[in-house]
Amino acid sequence: MAANSTVIYRKDYTPPSHNIDSVNLVFDLIPTKTRVTSTLKITPRPGRRSDALELNGENLRIDSIRINGEPALSDQYDMFPGRLVFRSIAKPTEIEIVTTINPQENLQLSGLYMSKGNFITQCEAEGFRRITYFPDRPDVLSKYSVELHAPKDCKVLLSNGNLIEEGELPDGRRYAKWEDPFLKPSYLFALVAGDFVANEESITLADKRQALLQVWVEPGNDNKTAHAMESLKKAIKWDEKKYGLELDLDRFMIVATDDFNMGAMENKGLNIFNSRCVLADENVATDTDFTQIQATIGHEYFHNWTGDRVTCRDWFQLSLKEGLTVFREQEFSGDQLATESAKVVQRLKNVRALKAFQFPEDAGPMAHPVRPESYTEINNFYTMTVYEKGAEVVRMYQTLFGEEGFKKGLQEYIRRHDGSAATCDDFLNAMADANNADLSQFALWYSQAGTPRVSIKTEWNEQRNELTVRARQVLRTFPGQPKPKPMLIPLAIGILDDKGKDVPLQLVDETEPQGTTRVLRLTQEEQSWTFTNIIRQPTLSVGRGFSAPVIFDIDYSRDQLIFLAKNDSDLFNRAIAFEKLSLIAVDTLMNEMRTQKNDSNLSPMTSYLTTFQEILEDDSLSPAYRAEVLKLPSETAVAEQSIIVEPELIRSALALMQKKIGQRLTSTLEKWMKLCETIGPYKCTPELAGKRALRHLMLEYLVASGNVKAVQQARTLFDKGNNLTDKLSGLRTIALSGTPIGRELIQTAVRAWSNEPLLFNKVLQIYALARPSKGDIPTVEKMRQMMFNQAFDIKNPNNVFSLLRTFFQNGGPEFHTLDGTGYQLWIDTVLEIDKFNPQVAARLGRALENWRRYEPNLASMMYKALSYVSAQNNLSNDLREIVDKALYEPV
Ligand code: BES
Ligand code: ZN
Repeated sequence: MAANSTVIYRKDYTPPSHNIDSVNLVFDLIPTKTRVTSTLKITPRPGRRSDALELNGENLRIDSIRINGEPALSDQYDMFPGRLVFRSIAKPTEIEIVTTINPQENLQLSGLYMSKGNFITQCEAEGFRRITYFPDRPDVLSKYSVELHAPKDCKVLLSNGNLIEEGELPDGRRYAKWEDPFLKPSYLFALVAGDFVANEESITLADKRQALLQVWVEPGNDNKTAHAMESLKKAIKWDEKKYGLELDLDRFMIVATDDFNMGAMENKGLNIFNSRCVLADENVATDTDFTQIQATIGHEYFHNWTGDRVTCRDWFQLSLKEGLTVFREQEFSGDQLATESAKVVQRLKNVRALKAFQFPEDAGPMAHPVRPESYTEINNFYTMTVYEKGAEVVRMYQTLFGEEGFKKGLQEYIRRHDGSAATCDDFLNAMADANNADLSQFALWYSQAGTPRVSIKTEWNEQRNELTVRARQVLRTFPGQPKPKPMLIPLAIGILDDKGKDVPLQLVDETEPQGTTRVLRLTQEEQSWTFTNIIRQPTLSVGRGFSAPVIFDIDYSRDQLIFLAKNDSDLFNRAIAFEKLSLIAVDTLMNEMRTQKNDSNLSPMTSYLTTFQEILEDDSLSPAYRAEVLKLPSETAVAEQSIIVEPELIRSALALMQKKIGQRLTSTLEKWMKLCETIGPYKCTPELAGKRALRHLMLEYLVASGNVKAVQQARTLFDKGNNLTDKLSGLRTIALSGTPIGRELIQTAVRAWSNEPLLFNKVLQIYALARPSKGDIPTVEKMRQMMFNQAFDIKNPNNVFSLLRTFFQNGGPEFHTLDGTGYQLWIDTVLEIDKFNPQVAARLGRALENWRRYEPNLASMMYKALSYVSAQNNLSNDLREIVDKALYEPV
């Protein structure tokens, strides 16, 4: 909750007036009144506009201020809401500020707060100002030394960097001194104090230095840290080998906590994680969790170079560290996989998430460029656009320059900016210079919002054996803004002949072919390329591997889609072709349901099912790939292609489709269920996880068709599975199918799992998605009941997100109903949570932002709900920005 709600513009950036050369922090940690003594060594910067030094502060009580050892006089500084301004610091000066804060009452989980009796900090983006007065901006880099004084039972006292000394104070309390050898901005500061145990290991780095790795968890969780430790070691090795980036510290720590707004945070040398992103064993984590934990550990570790050593000049540059680090993590995760098909599965998952969540963001009222131009609350800009589209933008450099060229560019970027705060332009310039390229047009990816559409037409001249590919880019326009300029869009393409074989690609002005996949550069609004030697009927495969974050409009016939789904050598595009086929089938079903005509047009469903079966039976494809390709399109994917979103219709169409697959392909599905059985103790390898995924998918289709044996099998999975992946899949399948035993099963799970936070959150997610069956009370009622459950804590972000965000955002049944009860639940919970945790409230708030796209009756009720929230006068800036943009931003 910032102290004011002004809009901040990128164009207003001014460099800091002073350097803070060093910061010494002494903490007297007491849950209700922690005293913080901060001593700053300050030097004015040459060329500054003013001698005034502005410090940020929020919810702090000032106990004393001293300047160069003397108590500060009241005419030396001014207090404003959120700011403490020293009128004139014109020469090197030492300022000591003593403040008191109340971690116990800090329920925003930003700044210093308590989690189960332990002290934790979260400073990004603007939490440090909730600890002490400081220029809380990422371009002020300082050397930190920290002294922690804590009650006896705080056994573990951690901060950034190296442990200098620790022991007992004369009064029996404990103390520790830490020093961070590297310069850092305040948002990377961290401390942890409390009762923790470590899994630790010493490793040898590439230059033969030793480093101590520690994973700190609450006692009792130490048996769930092995996977995190393995992941950390892999990440360290990978960055050394891939980019020559070594761990620069003697000690690298990870801490897990149950109370955390985000997934994890890259504080220098002391990463703090939401426990769901660290803890894993076969009983508390699924296959997906194992993969995600490895990815998150990698992500935060990779920030050590891209984020910490080179940080951001201002928060508009957020994608500089986040987009780049997401990309680095994706490359790391891909490199851990042995097969091409496993890598494609990973890519498919990422691209599907981008399409399902980032595309709608870019088409709605919260649309913003990868490098935003303005914000009121920075916490609202940790978005899919900054992260996932940002990662695609980074990926495009690699697509354009190759892995070697990309590596040169990255190393040049780090060479130039190590130890300082950089901008997105700096990154682009390093890439351009290292590759002797002109990237001025590419820069538009940072400044123009909206998903470009690229429409493709092909013309085959049979006489001349030539294929002409015409591409046209259409960009989103924003009211009151200049017409967007054509962007540089890399188009990876291939051409299949009539047998499904890739044709060598030779442009008319070339003397010989150059490969079978090529990256064309679309730079104009309209452009064409003509390929020669195209002797047989060609089919174009475009956007291979998703070479740019755009929407491809290409008019394939159904036969061409089937052909591509069976033959494209690019496994990624094969899956996309099949997805298009499924979307056509769903669309046909929705039309039938709308017009109440049955089977008026059988053929899309029939050809879909035939192709489905062929892919399922294709043994050259890994089970993981088949599972990813053959799953139903998501509700969001269907909504994306609808002009008007009708949630209930989408839901029933997908349910019907699922049922039809189960009915028509029963024996094949049963066969593959059997073939994918995994025996023996649980191990999370891509192969075994792939088999489980395919098996569970088969089971879902069978259960949806009402197959009694399958329902029994799902139940057995839940009851007897020797790992969480199996158990949850059994439970989810039954709960989501609306089978009457679902209710009983969920109750069993709630009872059995409510004392293990990780498992309780899993049940909450399924609970929120469970389809009601006959005799059930309304889902919204059920949701309200769960909020009274002993184990449910509205102050805990994981609980809130698992239950409520799942229900609001991931398609909970009976959320979008005409009686308005779902939206009322949204109003009630968003307003309640906003009182103590605005960041969490704002994220829930986003559930209704695309109200304009829904069918008019729902849209008007969503509008009313948003207006009701907006009319409250005590909203946080976080939530206000979200609801007001949803209501008033022209789209
Ligand atoms: N720096 C962020 C964490 C963060 C985000 C802090 C917003 C404060 C406000 C961290 O590096 C991050 O991106 N975490 C992600 C997970 C990651 C695997 C993409 C998160 O927490 O969701
Ligand atoms: Zn990050």
